[in-house]
Amino acid sequence: MNAAEWKEKLSRVGESFSSAISGAAAGNIAEVELQFLGRKGELALLLRDLGSFTIEEKKELGRLGNELKARLVAALEARKAELGGGKSKAAAGLDLTLSGLPFPKGSLHPITQTIVRLSEAYLKLGFAMADGCHIEDDRHNFEALNFPPDHPARDMQDTFYVGVKDSSGKDMLLRTHTSPVQIRSMMAAPPPLRVFHPGRVFRSEAVDASHSFVFHQVEGLYVDRNVSMADLKWTVDAFIKDLFGSSAKVRFAPSYFPFVEPGAQVEISCVFCGGKADKCPVCKSTGWLEMLGAGMVHPNVLKACGHDPEKWSGFAFGAGVERFAMLLFGIKDMRMFYENDLRVWKQL
Ligand code: DAH
Repeated sequence: MNAAEWKEKLSRVGESFSSAISGAAAGNIAEVELQFLGRKGELALLLRDLGSFTIEEKKELGRLGNELKARLVAALEARKAELGGGKSKAAAGLDLTLSGLPFPKGSLHPITQTIVRLSEAYLKLGFAMADGCHIEDDRHNFEALNFPPDHPARDMQDTFYVGVKDSSGKDMLLRTHTSPVQIRSMMAAPPPLRVFHPGRVFRSEAVDASHSFVFHQVEGLYVDRNVSMADLKWTVDAFIKDLFGSSAKVRFAPSYFPFVEPGAQVEISCVFCGGKADKCPVCKSTGWLEMLGAGMVHPNVLKACGHDPEKWSGFAFGAGVERFAMLLFGIKDMRMFYENDLRVWKQL
């Protein structure tokens, strides 16, 4: 083989490399590399033939051979980069058969879950959902609920006034309880009615483990002919048993709320110690937990809504959602509901 023939062979190696590399896929690039640049590859064999040439020829042909080698190496690297590092997709760390990265799944906030749970219990008992508003006037929040102006019962509910007057010149406020929904429901539709309302309420209170300036309540109202305290007791009992199981006990003790007469405080047997009252921090060893305010709708409230108290009677009840949520989820500090620490929620 003379020098011209050798050059001719070299350029053919270059050409066949070019077509091999452009058709190479990730799976066979290593083969192409071996075929042309391997120890026994086409280029290596050709360079080995240089031994039979003169020094001058060796210099020139060697240079040409090395130039081609450099070109092949560069082209090979470029193609490898194009195909993902020259490895198969799996070897490059991309395995299309793997399941995806876990997507953090959200869930309803424990307060919302509790509201849903309480609402379901009352929907089952035939109550309809009612609605109200966060910014109320004095009439709905207090007056129609039989809190006359300057009545000391207003002091039980430290009120946020919003600095706006209503049409009668009284200060608008953030509702201090869900009871205004009783008034809204009774004014919107004549009895008989049976409504339930969960919602947010606001009181100017210092925050601690059992108080917050924003919290949640539920309110229930049933007005019909001949509704009695017995209906109230049965309804509350059915609700508590639905929530905490059939062994939960309910008892009523007299209490005062201006919009009910008689008024009651409803207690349930402690769901932690089962009423055993033995060194229980939750019920403070009394065996009972105070859960609801309730009573028979005061005649003045029916009158304020335009209904005849001789014809209609009803019961109402209200309770704090956070208190139920604390029992249902075993949470001891109410502030946890608003801090939203996912480390806590993930344990529920
Ligand atoms: N609204 C009362 C409060 O926030 C709770 C309450 C007590 C609601 C008795 C009622 C009820 O409907 O009958 O303290």
